[in-house]
Amino acid sequence: MMAAMNSPDASVDVHELLDRVRRLAADGPATIAAAATVDELRRLDGEFLGKTSVMSQAKAAMRFVAPEDRKSVGGLLNEVRTALEAAIGQRQSAFDSDARRERLAAEALDLSEVMDAAPTGHRHLISQTREMLEDAFVGLGFTVAEGPEIETDWYNFEALNMPEGHPARSMWDTLYLEAGEPESVLLRTHTSPVQIRTMLREEPPIYVVAPGRAYRSDTADATHLPVFSQIEGLVIDRGITFADLAGTIETFVKLLYGSERTTRLRPSFFPFTEPSAEFDMSTPSGEWVELGGCGMVHPNVLRAGGLDPEEWSGFAFGFGLERMAMQRHGLDDIRELITNDVRFLAQF
Ligand code: DAH
Repeated sequence: MMAAMNSPDASVDVHELLDRVRRLAADGPATIAAAATVDELRRLDGEFLGKTSVMSQAKAAMRFVAPEDRKSVGGLLNEVRTALEAAIGQRQSAFDSDARRERLAAEALDLSEVMDAAPTGHRHLISQTREMLEDAFVGLGFTVAEGPEIETDWYNFEALNMPEGHPARSMWDTLYLEAGEPESVLLRTHTSPVQIRTMLREEPPIYVVAPGRAYRSDTADATHLPVFSQIEGLVIDRGITFADLAGTIETFVKLLYGSERTTRLRPSFFPFTEPSAEFDMSTPSGEWVELGGCGMVHPNVLRAGGLDPEEWSGFAFGFGLERMAMQRHGLDDIRELITNDVRFLAQF
């Protein structure tokens, strides 16, 4: 291509400029592709296409090009500019994707940290309490038993020394099911029927705990729930005394709450034990809190379980898991345990 020399301005050598443009067209793209950093690329961009660049000078020199040659010279300049811009764009996007890859790699690291810190959920406080109790009793040589939540009148009351019409039945506000004879099938009001089921299933010696749900026709308030959890304990062996009961209670309370805690038994009444007691635990502030009921298994209960009261004796105890969890964590409203507010649950 021949650019006509039509220059009144001696300082502009159009030929020489166009030579430089052609050299730039030949070498520029490779130089750009070799730019090692974004800064270097930016510098080359300025050098090749900026205000004082050969390209800009050549463009400014167009007015010195003969009109008939302007089209081809302009075409050349456009072509070279486009090629240089393309090379710069390509290099830039290579830098961009490198940066994106680096950022993703960095973010991937962050993500794993976030994963570790993310709340992953855990066992409900009551389940934790139940497992903790199971572990403690297993450590003392007990096994864990279970029984159905739907029970018959016989297991829930009668076999526990509360025949039909016994006034003690009113100690539990019972939810009866519409099945069979009226008031013959119910939601167990306590875990005590598992005592009977265990005695009928296993030969003594028996050292068993039975955690599970119990139901009562109660309205929920700060200290009551219509569905709650208990753990029942039953020991049947030869020569079991009240001292064994007291020692067992003292031992598991210390195990669960710490050795500075102590326990006391207060005389009480339950139809299925004789004598019966309620057991309390000392608190750090020197007060006593009630944990549950206990006593020596009543001879009638041993008989209902198929055992000879002359040969076997035993003790039993039962207490609420919710109350125990509340005591351990200083909670003052039992309903928190079933509301499933994550802000509450996440604390345990
Ligand atoms: N079943 C009783 C209740 O729900 C608690 C209880 C008291 C269980 C004395 C026992 C016991 O095994 O011996 O109120």
